[in-house]
Amino acid sequence: MRKPMIAGNWKMHLNSSEASQLAAAIKNGLDPQLKHEVLIAPSFTNIESVRKEISSSPILLSAQNMCWEEKGAFTGEISPIQLKDAGCDYVIIGHSERRKIFSESDEVLNKKVKSALKNALKVIFCIGETLEERENQRTYKVLQTQLNGGLKDISVNELSNIVIAYEPVWAIGTGKTATPQQAQDAHIFVRKEIERMLGAQASQSVRILYGGSVKAENIDELMAQPDIDGALVGGESLKADKFLRVIHYQPVLSK
Ligand code: PGA
Repeated sequence: MRKPMIAGNWKMHLNSSEASQLAAAIKNGLDPQLKHEVLIAPSFTNIESVRKEISSSPILLSAQNMCWEEKGAFTGEISPIQLKDAGCDYVIIGHSERRKIFSESDEVLNKKVKSALKNALKVIFCIGETLEERENQRTYKVLQTQLNGGLKDISVNELSNIVIAYEPVWAIGTGKTATPQQAQDAHIFVRKEIERMLGAQASQSVRILYGGSVKAENIDELMAQPDIDGALVGGESLKADKFLRVIHYQPVLSK
C-alpha cells in the first residue's frame, strides 16, 4: 500500500512570521487520526520559523531546491548538508519553474537527486509537459526523457526515498487542472516507465503525486484515481482553510 502525501509548495511567498502562522494553522487543523503524510515547503529563509512551529507535529519539512555540491565556493547556493542541518526531511527537485526559468537540465537535476539522497534528504522529483508538448502529442516522450535523465543510475533502494510529482506545466498556477482521467493516464505511463527502468515492485511502490491547480474543489475526484497517490499544491496551500480541506480529502469518483 502506498501512503498518500499532500505537499504544500509555498514558492517565493510569505515572511517568517506569516510562514509560522500558516504552519501553526495547518498543524492545529490536522485530524489527529490522519493516516497519510503532510509536507510543507517554505522558502529557505522561513525554514527555521516553520521548523520550530511544526517540530511537535507529524508535518514533514521540505526545501524547494538545493545545490548538488556539499560545500565550497558556490555563492548564493544552499547545500544538502545545510538543508539537513536546518531540519529538512525532503527537497523538491526539478520543479518546472526551476527547469524553465532557471534552465535546469535533466543532467543537473540528476546530480541534485543523487546528492540529496546521499545526504539523507528524501526527494520530490517533478516532471511534466508544456501545453505545446501536449498539443503535439509529445507528453509521454517528454515524461520519459525527464524520468530517464533525472533518475539516471538511481537504484531501486534509492527510489524508495523518491516521490515523483507529475505536474503538467499548463496546469500550474493557471486554474486549469488536468481532468482526473488525464492525470490518471499520465500516472499510469509514469508507473510503466518506472517498471521498465527499475522493475515491477519499484513501480508499484513508488508514490506519484499530481500537481497543477489542485484545489479544495477538485482534490476529491483526483484522489479517487487509483494511480494518484497525493498532491503537490501551490497557491491553494497558502490558505490554511483551503489547504486543510485538500489535506482531509474524501475520494469520490467523478460523475
Ligand atoms: P499550483 O502550483 O497549485 O499553484 O498550480 C503547483 C506547483 O507548482 O507545484
